[in-house]
Amino acid sequence: MQLSKRISELPNYPFAKLEKIVADLKKTGVKPIDFGVGDPADPTPDFIREAAQKSIDRYAASGYPSYIGSADFREAVAEWFEKRFGVKLDSEKEITSSIGAKEAIFHFPLAFVDTNDIVLIPTPGYPPYARGCEFAGGKPYFLPLLKENDFLIDFAKIPAEVAKRAKILWLNYPNSPTGAIATDEFFKTAVEFCRRNEIILASDLAYSEIYFSEKPKSILEFTRKGVVEFHSFSKRSRMTGYRIGFVVGDAEIIDAFKKVKTNIDSGTPNFLQDAAIAALTDEQHVKKSIEEYREKRDILTAALESIGLEKCEPAAAFYIWQRVPNGMSSEDFAKKLLTPKIAIVATPGSWISNVTENGENPGESFVRFALVPTITEVKEAAERTRQNLKF
Ligand SMILES: Cc1ncc(COP(=O)(O)O)c(C=O)c1O
Repeated sequence: MQLSKRISELPNYPFAKLEKIVADLKKTGVKPIDFGVGDPADPTPDFIREAAQKSIDRYAASGYPSYIGSADFREAVAEWFEKRFGVKLDSEKEITSSIGAKEAIFHFPLAFVDTNDIVLIPTPGYPPYARGCEFAGGKPYFLPLLKENDFLIDFAKIPAEVAKRAKILWLNYPNSPTGAIATDEFFKTAVEFCRRNEIILASDLAYSEIYFSEKPKSILEFTRKGVVEFHSFSKRSRMTGYRIGFVVGDAEIIDAFKKVKTNIDSGTPNFLQDAAIAALTDEQHVKKSIEEYREKRDILTAALESIGLEKCEPAAAFYIWQRVPNGMSSEDFAKKLLTPKIAIVATPGSWISNVTENGENPGESFVRFALVPTITEVKEAAERTRQNLKF
């Protein structure tokens, strides 16, 4: 069978290697603590599940949902957005539903990217920014997120000819995996850079509701011309399995994106929209989960610092992007964490980061811990780290 180039040229899934080591550890009776994949194990809050259950009966005759989300859903988004960011959105023209942020992020370039157009993509970063670009025929140009720049993009380093060919710039603040949030000044520079080069500014706010002090902003607080944002319920309300999100911003961009989507899917299921409406009416469950992430973050970062690693204090999201000891690669350090006495699963930074123009991979000297195990497990992991590692 002849696979398409697009599929056959995809890199192998690196997590398979880790899965094998973890499976081998389990066979020997060791219980690994898994900080690998960022999927929270805790249940979706009761009131959200109940809203979905009720809605199944409300839509007894199922019918196709609206392509752009029900009026109720879009109005609930507009109301929440205004409360959260102080930005009034037109629910007809400036909002559309998605089947989770991933779907929207992956499909978005189809509206704007032609063969060999460039898409500017931060790295480390969420893989669909690059995959969506490639599947649309475009060429990713990776922008390194470096600790010495507070994990912000250095626009001065983007060559003029690259900027000229670029159609989209992806931003992701709060940032996964570095935990950085952006300053107002950075957002203004990004907007100015995009205006000057006629680039669409596409911003992924999947982690906007998981923060530890300063509230992350929406770029729409500064301007909406040329800006589009991708929002998710997955992290805010532990709804990863619900597959719903929303896209907001410049009406012209939203309109083009709707054209793409009406040719791909037939809308987000109504019962998921109703569950999402319920989720938007409550902030208590969000506060509770932030406090849990804060506790886990503090326990693990203190342990990592106590064994001689560089201090790391993410301002948002639920990852620890830890610099590894000098002279060690990110894979070496992740393997060391998998020795039976420690048995902690973390993702080598190089696996979730790309080589940039200067030939370097900015993830090479980091590992990522996703704070998804329970607090008891995080305490156990901190103890095993303290007792068995020193640098
Ligand atoms: C940075 C980032 N954006 C988007 C998503 C996807 O969100 P959703 O579950 O809404 O598709 C994730 C999921 O892990 C993510 O890490």
